[in-house]
Amino acid sequence: MKTSNTAQTGGIPVLLDNHGRTIDYLRLAVTDKCNLRCFYCMPEEGIKFVKKAELLSYEELLRIIRMLAQNGLRKVRITGGEPFLRKDLMYFLRELVAIEGIEKVAVTTNGTLTLPYLDELLELGIRSFNLSIDSLDPKRFFDITRRDYFEQVWECYEVMRERDIDLKLNAVVMADQNIDDIIPMVKLGEKDNIAVRFIEEMPFNGAGMHYEKLEWNYRKILAHIQTEFPKINKLKDPKNSTSFNYQVEGFVGTFGIIPAFTRSFCGTCNRLRMTPQGMIKTCLYDDGVFNLRDLLRAGASDNELLTAIQQAISHRAKNGFEAEARRKGQASVSESMATIGG
Ligand code: 5AD
Ligand code: SF4
Repeated sequence: MKTSNTAQTGGIPVLLDNHGRTIDYLRLAVTDKCNLRCFYCMPEEGIKFVKKAELLSYEELLRIIRMLAQNGLRKVRITGGEPFLRKDLMYFLRELVAIEGIEKVAVTTNGTLTLPYLDELLELGIRSFNLSIDSLDPKRFFDITRRDYFEQVWECYEVMRERDIDLKLNAVVMADQNIDDIIPMVKLGEKDNIAVRFIEEMPFNGAGMHYEKLEWNYRKILAHIQTEFPKINKLKDPKNSTSFNYQVEGFVGTFGIIPAFTRSFCGTCNRLRMTPQGMIKTCLYDDGVFNLRDLLRAGASDNELLTAIQQAISHRAKNGFEAEARRKGQASVSESMATIGG
């Protein structure tokens, strides 16, 4: 089917938004459950987790992704919550990598449960991992995540860095919490071929803004790193990159800063998001455009599902500020990142 915003490139249909951006990347949260309680993501008592019947089943997810892959989807990132808490995730991943058109499957994980699956993941050709680790100090790690899992996460890092993996470490930068970790984390790149990414803290924690004003924005993070490492080279940022990327001279690894709160990367955004219960989000900062699961369970055909998605992306906000301003329910963002998938 060809509709107004399905362009043709070399015979392959492409999903285009109303600002001329191609959508070829789906960030899929497969569960909202997590075994950590990172304070920037969830309240201590957790959140109201989604019931199983409300989750899109693997078969439903695969159907949606097959349909999107026929229309230009090329990359899927599996997020959560913690993806490996969802039962039979490997079954789903095996089916996912086999879908024609899907060129890349990446996984964002907290590293607590990942290692037993690593060999099989690599066999499937999944070799892009974002490992969330906000501190290299076990005590601070505990203070941030409220759980005692540092050893497991660090072991995961040590094993992964030895393998042929495109490994990124995600650290959310938080005043009074992990500022002392910034320099040691950059230093990991001296010998390890990894990309450390410092993320501005966003108010997605189940409660709302922690601060009046974000102090540790990307400029401050960079200035802080420059005081320790005067010789830093700016790297060319990949297309659609959300991070500003750098390398300390002589290091094998790199570091990047993600202005997640400042939102200066929206112009090249190629992403669509889907929550565990099938809510489609065309921006991290919107509050959900429509529920694809409800449509699917009401008996919609693939074409009807596609049309609904095209409808959503043809009304896409220009950037995260516009998306936030358009929110219907709660005016400002406060939901847990575990329900959105980051
Ligand atoms: N602000 C910034 N980043 C966050 N993440 C989770 N919650 C927040 C937040 N409030 C990041 C985690 C994880 C990724 C999926 O999202 O670091 O690596
Ligand atoms: Fe879990 Fe990730 Fe949220 Fe931490 S940030 S509580 S690891 S989902």
